[in-house]
Amino acid sequence: MKSHEIVEKNVGLLALFMVLAVSIGGLTQIVPLFFQDVVNDPVAGMKPRPALEVEGRDIYIREGCVGCHSQMIRPFRAETERYGHYSVAGESVWDHPFLWGSKRTGPDLARVGGRYSDDWHRAHLYNPRNVVPESKMPAYPWLVENKLDGKDTAAKLNALRALGTPYSDADIAGAAEAVKGKSEMDALVAYLQGLGTSIKNKR
Ligand code: HEC
Repeated sequence: MKSHEIVEKNVGLLALFMVLAVSIGGLTQIVPLFFQDVVNDPVAGMKPRPALEVEGRDIYIREGCVGCHSQMIRPFRAETERYGHYSVAGESVWDHPFLWGSKRTGPDLARVGGRYSDDWHRAHLYNPRNVVPESKMPAYPWLVENKLDGKDTAAKLNALRALGTPYSDADIAGAAEAVKGKSEMDALVAYLQGLGTSIKNKR
């Protein structure tokens, strides 16, 4: 029997060799990433997200915005002309979990920060048809009513610090105060306005 025939007729052996081949292929691609500064270091000058934006990000996750909006500009001309500088890994190193997304029913939001006024975002999130008549994005009117109490904010910052975001003790001590009494709308708009601003937004 030829050696190849032995492998083909023995499913266990075949599976073993497949796992070996795939692991080597995978490891040679994945392992070097753990040691490359460009994917592990924050981009120059990046600041940890303020407490209000951390709360805003959690609302973004809760409301499922990531289901329709990516936060990942690919390095193609069609994308960079529309959205700005392509996304780099160093911008996401403090995002746990990252919100790159994979579905674009609406536009990419990686660099939406500063593109519209706060008032535009408020009107849009309250009811997108207020500002974009043909929009099919859902309305989120309850964000105005819901107020933040800030009781978990310090714990959230602490958890992010444990994962490597450089929050100071003062940031954590002041976290609850920084968000208390603010509405969920305030938090979400603050988060959106901070998106993608650590790299100069050239369009
Ligand atoms: C069902 C899909 C869907 C969901 C869910 C959704 N959006 Fe949208 N979004 C859209 C579409 C479509 C547009 C483009 C039309 C418009 O501007 O309203 C849009 C536009 C936007 C824009 C304007 C972007 C630009 O560059 O013009 C922002 C900001 C935005 N959405 C934020 C959010 C946030 C925050 C959430 C979660 C609270 C959310 N969206 C949830 C579909 C969605």
